[in-house]
Amino acid sequence: MLRDIHDEIFRQDDWGTPAQYIPELANVPSNRFAMSVCLANGECLNVGAADDPFSIQSVSKVFSLAATLGRIGDQLWSRVGREPSGTSFDSVVLLEREKGRPRNPFVNAGAIVTTDVLLSGRQPKQALAEILGLVRTLAETDDIHINERVAASEKSTGARNKALAHYLQSHGNLENAPDLTLGTYFHQCAIEMTTRQLALAGRSLARLATGPNVISPRHARRINALMMTCGHYDGSGEFAYQVGLPGKSGVGGGILVIAPKVASIAIWSPGLNHYGNSHAGTRAAAMLARATGWSVF
Ligand code: DON
Repeated sequence: MLRDIHDEIFRQDDWGTPAQYIPELANVPSNRFAMSVCLANGECLNVGAADDPFSIQSVSKVFSLAATLGRIGDQLWSRVGREPSGTSFDSVVLLEREKGRPRNPFVNAGAIVTTDVLLSGRQPKQALAEILGLVRTLAETDDIHINERVAASEKSTGARNKALAHYLQSHGNLENAPDLTLGTYFHQCAIEMTTRQLALAGRSLARLATGPNVISPRHARRINALMMTCGHYDGSGEFAYQVGLPGKSGVGGGILVIAPKVASIAIWSPGLNHYGNSHAGTRAAAMLARATGWSVF
């Protein structure tokens, strides 16, 4: 089945365009594809470039949210909402209207707040060690690293995120200096993983009995709910309609898809659609859901 999806993906002409606003990501060839699936019986299946590391970008927000809920639990929700935004991932508009409380933890403003929580009372290195440590534990490998060039590249061009952080600060919703929180956030987004590793890291969210179950079942359910409603930004409704499973995308072209109790799925293809989500990755997720019948509905 995975081979069929792979072959079908390579028959398409339109791969989308890699993220242009992060120079280090702009030149990645768009016609790359990988998919990995970890099943409840412990089996993991891979197709395509499943051992090529890619920039996980916003997929990291799932792991920083898990770490934040582990650290301060429901207190997070006084600073961040749980509603879909209907706007792009880097939108400023709602933040102004809603007085500095981001709609959800997956839009950039919301993720900057969760990173800020992890940074409080610590140095950036320690906050990053917690996120990286969580991902490494979940994937059962130490071979997951931060790409400093990608982090520096985003820092040099991240004017919108700087605006968001300063806006949060003006509303008293940032505990640390904007530069420190943003530096930590850019590094977290610059974590590189392969689809093989990302699918392994998703097992705890899928509540599979295999692998280390570090994320509590209660938090996993809630993170999945947010992935379903907010994981693809203003494309979340379409993803729910086409795929029917919780998913979280990143501008590096990665998507983590969870079939609760059934499978953890990681897909990568760097060309993006107009929402900033992987074009071929979204198609592949829909094909897999159709072929397997996996759906939460
Ligand atoms: O903050 C940013 O713009 C990027 N580091 C992450 C955005 C992202 O991945 C949006 N996902 N589709």
